Amino acid sequence: MSIDSGGAWFTSLENHATDRSAQERVSIVVDGQLLSVPAEVSVAASLMMAGVRRFSERPVHGGARVPYCMMGVCFECVVDIDDLPGCRACMTKVHSGMRIGMRGAMSRLLSADDDAHEEAGHHD
Ligand code: FES
Repeated sequence: MSIDSGGAWFTSLENHATDRSAQERVSIVVDGQLLSVPAEVSVAASLMMAGVRRFSERPVHGGARVPYCMMGVCFECVVDIDDLPGCRACMTKVHSGMRIGMRGAMSRLLSADDDAHEEAGHHD
């Protein structure tokens, strides 16, 4: 499966002030695809700098979810990180070897929430 990406559509202010080739980079795996991204940035920022344009999909009509607030409030950036579902990409710093799953991440988060609800004895 390929990730939905185009050219870079996000850049940090640092990229304008420094030589991009001099930045330290790390390798991450996104839905099975190896990407080289800048180190020392959030997962959300690194993915947008790599040109990723769809983080997950809306359950009703399948529209794209993409980061919106970049400060942990909106949950539009939810992805799976190193097999942990429902992580906010904007609040997690990227590291070498990180495995990121984007397809269905929001559905898995909602499913995990339902399971936790049932384990707690709550039934809707
Ligand atoms: S972009 Fe809003 S919580 Fe991550």
